[in-house]
Amino acid sequence: MSEILQHREDGILTLTFNRLEKKNAITAAMYNALADAMFAAAEDDAVRVVVLQGHEQVFTAGNDLADFLKNPPDMSKSDAEPAPVVRFLEALRTFPKPLLAAVAGPAVGIGTTLLLHCDLVYAADNAAFSLPFVNLGLCPEAGASLLLPALLGYQRAAEKLMLGEPFYAEEAVEMGLVNRLLPPGEVNAYTQAQAAKLAAKPMASLTATKALMKKGQVGLQQIMGDEIKLFGALLRGPAAKEAISAVMEKRKPDFSKC
Ligand code: COA
Repeated sequence: MSEILQHREDGILTLTFNRLEKKNAITAAMYNALADAMFAAAEDDAVRVVVLQGHEQVFTAGNDLADFLKNPPDMSKSDAEPAPVVRFLEALRTFPKPLLAAVAGPAVGIGTTLLLHCDLVYAADNAAFSLPFVNLGLCPEAGASLLLPALLGYQRAAEKLMLGEPFYAEEAVEMGLVNRLLPPGEVNAYTQAQAAKLAAKPMASLTATKALMKKGQVGLQQIMGDEIKLFGALLRGPAAKEAISAVMEKRKPDFSKC
């Protein structure tokens, strides 16, 4: 069974994280599957809207931590031969059609930052968002260092990005990251209903509206490139090695030498 399920119906492509035994943690193969599906959907007239979703109890635990240690993406080659995560981030940044997300349960790391690229986000009241990059010896990705301060103001964004503490569904609505809260059993169906409304609208108007709104995100491509280079370097550093090993060994990290 594929770890990224693809379902097409009535102009809606739904991509579902399907690696529940690892809390939908995203591997290199899963990033490539997501990127391939989104790049193809961008070109395919039969796809009018894309929905990203997880399971009722978990959206995604973010990047696979074992992959981070064993197979760290090589960000230095990001232009010539982009790493799978970089391909996915580029697919998110450039996706021209409506992109929706349905979030229930934990949405860790890229599970939260990818939402900054979605047009509509619906969340279950059990959703828990977190940006634990600093706690993992890393830095933000997906343009979060630009998009989050733009959404929240500098200090609130710094609190989320520097302390890395989880925040919950009601705060995410108040922040403007999430459009509406629903019970966990209803969030995917509600998101599909919203996607169906969009799929019935004139495509050229939707894509023009999205492109015009995105024009305000000046410097996003540049900062995403800067982030990914720093992220790649930090991933090979001592703090990330200690932090990620500590999570996997279920112990507290020791940053006294980092
Ligand atoms: N990468 C790889 N495996 C992961 C993972 C990740 N990001 N997140 C969870 N898993 C695995 C666990 O190792 C465990 O595997 P095991 O059963 O073989 O031991 C399994 O998924 C269940 O995880 P568990 O922690 O027991 O589930 P939980 O419901 O108690 O907590 C989370 C869920 C998502 C809150 C918690 O797993 C977590 O914080 N994960 C790390 C997230 C993270 O730091 N991501 C990187 C972001 S940059």
